[in-house]
Amino acid sequence: MFNIGTMFFYQLLVALLLNVCVTVHGNSNATSLKRTELEEMKNKNNCKLCTCVGLIADCTSRNLKSLPQDLPQDITTLNLTNNSITHLPDGLLGQLYQSLKVLDIDGNKITAFGQYVFDGLQNLEFLGIGANPFKPELFHHLVYKPLKNIRTIFVSRFGDESKHDSRIPLFNAFEGLQNSTIEAIIYEHITFVPFLLEKKYMQFFQNCHLKKLVLPENKIYAFEPGFSKFMPHLEIVDVSRNLIQGTMPVNNKVLEIYLMQFLKVIKIEGNTQG
Ligand SMILES: *[C@@H]1O[C@H](CO)[C@@H](O)[C@H](O)[C@H]1NC(C)=O
Ligand SMILES: *[C@@H]1O[C@H](CO)[C@@H](O)[C@H](O)[C@H]1NC(C)=O
Ligand SMILES: *[C@@H]1O[C@H](CO)[C@@H](O)[C@H](O)[C@H]1NC(C)=O
Ligand SMILES: *[C@@H]1O[C@H](CO)[C@@H](O)[C@H](O)[C@H]1NC(C)=O
Repeated sequence: MFNIGTMFFYQLLVALLLNVCVTVHGNSNATSLKRTELEEMKNKNNCKLCTCVGLIADCTSRNLKSLPQDLPQDITTLNLTNNSITHLPDGLLGQLYQSLKVLDIDGNKITAFGQYVFDGLQNLEFLGIGANPFKPELFHHLVYKPLKNIRTIFVSRFGDESKHDSRIPLFNAFEGLQNSTIEAIIYEHITFVPFLLEKKYMQFFQNCHLKKLVLPENKIYAFEPGFSKFMPHLEIVDVSRNLIQGTMPVNNKVLEIYLMQFLKVIKIEGNTQG
């Protein structure tokens, strides 16, 4: 015979046992969940294809065909130069590695730089994208816009493999740098086609503090008068190895230098004498 008290006791015991079972069951699920999460995390951080030291991932010359997705997600430097990456999906870099400050993808096989390719890289300070066979029509004029903390953009050897004039989309992309933190533009050897350095491109820098404009080994034959009024903070202008001729730009130069009160260095060697 059970009295109420005993029944209550047994019910309590059963309830407790059930609870323990549920708890153990729940825990085991939680543990297994945690274990897979941990494994995923480990896989995520295993840096199988590159060399990761601290917050630097060195992925240079690894014959990579796509962006490695298993690097530590807090890396600040990612060097992908000299690989065979053909495509960067929209926003992937920013989703995987949003702490990046330095990204170098020079020397790959990327043909398209769409509007959203650098989305989410709001900490990026240095971007290197040279020596990629991009198609001018696939280089978006707002490609740099997501880079809210950008300081330096380095483009070398663009257009070598292209019959088009790859200069135009690269200059059009200054539009995405309006009101930005950009300090240095380095565009070297980006075209074979002679051109005038037009002020319509430079106007996008009027609210910026651009200090360095480095455009060596191009085919600039002249500056459009007034091009520098949008860059009053310029300290270094490098137009060496271009086609600038002696006579006409001398007058311009006087005017331009007068306008550029911070100018310290102007490199013009290796131009044709006029
Ligand atoms: C716990 O895991 C089992 C077997 O793996 C599964 O059937 C059950 O739905 C899981 N329970 C919870 C709460 O996830
Ligand atoms: C580029 O990478 C290849 C291997 O993928 C290597 O043989 C070559 O030396 C590298 N070039 C440079 C300039 O590092
Ligand atoms: C990336 O690596 C290449 C090859 O070692 C080097 O030349 C380049 O300067 C590196 N990029 C950056 C931003 O350090
Ligand atoms: C840049 O700043 C100016 C002045 O504050 C503003 O009128 C303009 O709309 C801004 N442009 C962009 C693209 O943010």
